[in-house]
Amino acid sequence: MPLETESKARVRALVADFRPNNGDMMAALHRVQHEFGYLSQESLEVIAEQLDMFPAILYGAASFYDEFRFEAPAQTTVRWCSGPACRLRNSNGIRDAMLATLGMEDLHEQTEDHRVGMVLGQCNGCCELAPMVWLEQHGDHGPEQTPVGHMTAARAVRMARALRDGADIEEAIDA
Ligand code: FES
Repeated sequence: MPLETESKARVRALVADFRPNNGDMMAALHRVQHEFGYLSQESLEVIAEQLDMFPAILYGAASFYDEFRFEAPAQTTVRWCSGPACRLRNSNGIRDAMLATLGMEDLHEQTEDHRVGMVLGQCNGCCELAPMVWLEQHGDHGPEQTPVGHMTAARAVRMARALRDGADIEEAIDA
């Protein structure tokens, strides 16, 4: 039997309490994505084994949902709020300014060096901060999110430059 990789062993330990035919699939997927920031092929194989399913069926189910990712997240992910209060305050302009500064065509892309990514976000009730984005960094125990509200196009460009160049974000936002 081949040696188990460290990440495979971590996934196995994470999903050890889930059982086949027990409605545990979504919970298992969420737990693994929360820990690693995405679902690797290796992790899908371990979950499928634990739940006694074919990996292809598990992948088919997971890929139906927007919230699951199958590639490692960037060092910092900008989650852009697409909710109505933000849209009313020019969040589209903020998205476009950031994408252009980062050299991306669209959301769900990353810079070539994987330093920054941008994804679609949904309103989470912080509309008083509209328009806003969340800066998401994946630590050892799941994502850490920092909301950045009251965005303007100028702030968005400064923030995107700082993220791209590895400069001080707070300084860029407050400038
Ligand atoms: S619409 Fe953006 S936080 Fe609510």
